[in-house]
Amino acid sequence: MSTTKVSSWNDFDPLRHVIVGRADHTCIPPSEPATEAKVPQDSDMRGMWGPRPLETVEKANEQLDFLVGILEKRGIRVDRPTPLQWNQATVTPDFTTGTMFGCMPPRDVLLTVGKEILSAPMSFRCRYWEYLAYHPLMQRYFDEDPEFRWEQAPRPRLTDEAYQQGYFDEITIDERLRRTAALDFVTTEHEPLFDAADVLRFGKDLFCQHGLTTNRRGMEWLQRHFPGHRVHAVNFPGDPYPIHIDATFVSLRPGLIINNPVRRLPDEQRKIFAANDWEIIDAAPPAHNEPPPLCYSSVWLSMNCLILDHKTVCVEASEHRQMEQLDKLGMEVIPVPFRDAYPFGGGLHCATGDVLREGSCEDYFPKQVPGTRIRPIG
Ligand code: ALA
Repeated sequence: MSTTKVSSWNDFDPLRHVIVGRADHTCIPPSEPATEAKVPQDSDMRGMWGPRPLETVEKANEQLDFLVGILEKRGIRVDRPTPLQWNQATVTPDFTTGTMFGCMPPRDVLLTVGKEILSAPMSFRCRYWEYLAYHPLMQRYFDEDPEFRWEQAPRPRLTDEAYQQGYFDEITIDERLRRTAALDFVTTEHEPLFDAADVLRFGKDLFCQHGLTTNRRGMEWLQRHFPGHRVHAVNFPGDPYPIHIDATFVSLRPGLIINNPVRRLPDEQRKIFAANDWEIIDAAPPAHNEPPPLCYSSVWLSMNCLILDHKTVCVEASEHRQMEQLDKLGMEVIPVPFRDAYPFGGGLHCATGDVLREGSCEDYFPKQVPGTRIRPIG
């Protein structure tokens, strides 16, 4: 009898089985073409690299374990990755970089679409081997679920051709905003690249954020790989570091999305949501003016919630405005302390990867309108 079933089509149907990351051995990677893009100019992380201080790892693990306890008490099965010693160089025929990163955010690398879990072709050299932390789980799901599709996108080479050289030299925030709004990113179109956390799943439709970590070729690859799905490109002017969609555009339940008010979806790209009666509302403002120390992400991790079902949501415990908004929208809000885990790779959504949610592959956008669909290149 099989003990595991892999299936998840969206981020809001009832959650039954999930992966929660671990902070062990996490490193701040040395600078490389893609991470230059991610680390803000005034960040306390500039010029630092190597293993994160042990006491911060322990605090992050305490909060991750607390999240696991909350989920398990609600009957949700939780699995954990097997961390590598991330403080090792990544060496391939094409590049070398001083350390790896970590396995706190499974959402970044694992894309679950129905019965498939796909390791993404990530653009950071330091994240090249990260999928190996999930290998023991994938092997187990493969053995236990005869229908599980264990997949991997083509491994990128990440040569210098994958990046625009000098793209970030002395760049101002205004110039960043101008370039990201013009879809001019540090990653080139040399080979398919995407992070799983740039993909928002809505049954038959997959909406991908075109940004620093996902290029058009990556979306094109996804469209050919999932011929039964419709892949869409979206982008959010106003974000100087467009990396991962889940602090920008978050689906709460069928028909309802919260959008970061300083990173609005452009009008042209809203049409498909309006045509299919999906409401997009502004997310509540964050409770904090600054992210915690040594954190890659913005204060908008306030929106990075983990939805347990159409009426239940986990939110970071200090985000009182976001909790209040979700409460007013009729959801039971479970506060989860998580700010000590943020520097290790993000919020509650980032720190998790779907294995099983109830529900099936719905068509939420039967009226397709031009504006977002990916078409084959050439
Ligand atoms: N890139 C996302 C943010 O920090 C997670 O807003």
